[in-house]
Amino acid sequence: MSGIVGYIGKRNAQPILLDSLEHLDYRGYDSAGIAISNGTTIEKRRSVGRVKDLRTCILREPIPSGTIGIGHTRWATHGTPSVQNSHPLTGCDDRFLVVHNGIIENYTALKRSLKKQGHVFKTDTDTEVIPHLLEQYDTGDFETTVQAILPLLRGSFALAMMSREHPNMIIAVSQDNPLIIGFGKGEAYLASDIPALLPYTREFYPIKNNEMAILTLGKVQLKTYDGISVEPKRVTVDWNVQDVLFPDQDHHMLKEILEQTKAVEETLKGRLTPVGVKLPEIEAPWSKERVQNISKIHIVASGTSYHAGIIGKKVLEQLLQIPVQVSFSSEFRDDHPPLDDRDLIIVLSQSGETADTLSALREAKRFGCPVIAITNTVGSTISRKADNTLYTKAGPELAVASTKAYTSQLTVMMLLALWLEQQIRDTHDEYSQALLESLTRLPMDIDSTLIMTKDAIDQLAQITYDQEHLFLIGRGLDYVLALEGALKLQEVAYIHADAYAAGEMKHGTMALITPGVPVIALATQTHLMDKVISNIKEVKARDAFVIGITKIGEDLLTEEVDQVLYIPETHPFLMPILAAIPLQLLAYYSGTVRGHDVDRPRNLAKSLTVE
Ligand code: M6R
Repeated sequence: MSGIVGYIGKRNAQPILLDSLEHLDYRGYDSAGIAISNGTTIEKRRSVGRVKDLRTCILREPIPSGTIGIGHTRWATHGTPSVQNSHPLTGCDDRFLVVHNGIIENYTALKRSLKKQGHVFKTDTDTEVIPHLLEQYDTGDFETTVQAILPLLRGSFALAMMSREHPNMIIAVSQDNPLIIGFGKGEAYLASDIPALLPYTREFYPIKNNEMAILTLGKVQLKTYDGISVEPKRVTVDWNVQDVLFPDQDHHMLKEILEQTKAVEETLKGRLTPVGVKLPEIEAPWSKERVQNISKIHIVASGTSYHAGIIGKKVLEQLLQIPVQVSFSSEFRDDHPPLDDRDLIIVLSQSGETADTLSALREAKRFGCPVIAITNTVGSTISRKADNTLYTKAGPELAVASTKAYTSQLTVMMLLALWLEQQIRDTHDEYSQALLESLTRLPMDIDSTLIMTKDAIDQLAQITYDQEHLFLIGRGLDYVLALEGALKLQEVAYIHADAYAAGEMKHGTMALITPGVPVIALATQTHLMDKVISNIKEVKARDAFVIGITKIGEDLLTEEVDQVLYIPETHPFLMPILAAIPLQLLAYYSGTVRGHDVDRPRNLAKSLTVE
């Protein structure tokens, strides 16, 4: 995954490209580069590291100003992070400049054949075959040259290309990999996602498969690979530019944790009514008969979204009494149970661009399964490929670690479960009626949780300063939450954090409990409290340092642990939403106390558009 930007218009391209790249550096920060045309010549600069390093490189060696350009921020897939492997990449004679996101799966065969034809390769990247192919198939006309090479490429790719012989033009394509055109007055932008362009425009067009965008001064043409013109149907988004500017808080991650009250409030807005849940996005296509005909539900997602999916499974199974299977997207594509059109697939993805999830979605469609997507990103590839989409309204999430998107996904899962229940039974039983009522209070409860835990966790995080190992234990929904807490701590604090079903510790893992090792015991489910307390006693007997996270008033647990953090009480299904907050804060403060760049953790990227 990498980030791509482009600009063509009347303004100086350099600051626009660099600023937009900075918004995209969550997609990769191994190296960065830009190429700028002044209408006659094109110059490029590249640097290892982040966009700020590229800025320094340009300060040392300024780039002549121009109003047309492309840029790239890289997450290395093929070839180490080096200047040589940085984009824009060129071929033998520098005629074509290419920035690429994705993977060219058949690059080895293409490279072999190009080498036979005399092409000399300078990098270890898959991308480099593209400028060489452009040279090989150059017709003298940039557009037809691009048309000639596109059918040769296999894999997923978003490309922005320039030609020194046509310095007033950018050609962009997006094959199973996002690339968005932004429209200004007499100018156009390119970026891998919408938030990067919010400072400039709110009108966008996500380029689709088999389309190429030809950007010239004052004109954006869209054509199929066969040259047939297409009218770009623009989408307008209502996101606020403030959401993507650098936060008042020290980091995007903290800002996004603190924004959860608003994110959940927005996600609930208009969807909770006195008579139940309203989800207009799926009401028309999902009649009662169709819902009642569902035989099984499959939830497919990756990472944090996968954890939201497991909680979703437990809620859906209890409310609907329909079997639900949750799969990692990366596994589902190659290994899934028999599927047919009575299997409902729910895909969860904050970005709406995760390649593994997209592949799983395609696989499900191959069997005729209906797909509902839950995503945070309007116009994303997953939202376009799914039959119906329910949006989380968390606003742009820029920190690599997912926080507000997770709690918003859980909120939508609750709404969807309640809505499906309405379709199946026409009414809610007492338990789901209580869930509905608790949902109305959820934003307030999130606010209280933030107030109750933020400073205490800041203190507590200090003890993780020199810890290498940490355990999280819980039962039922608390175990799922433990999985998410562990992922957050691994991701931003680089602590070897592991989650265990509390009752399983005695079956092996207990051997790892040594005096002083931190164990976070999650205990938010009343019906499991006695059993969790027994499990806490077991680790305490081995001198672990136990931190309990529980509901206000759980005094029995308080007596058993070394330190306790209280959160408000709500419906059992919503406890994972509240209890996720102290865990997110713990990961954040542990990451900062250990001196890590929490917004840009090592080796990771936000949007994983490669499988
Ligand atoms: O955009 P998605 O929800 O599809 O992303 C899935 C995962 O890559 C993502 O949740 C990842 O695990 C987060 N960085 C975790 O904080």
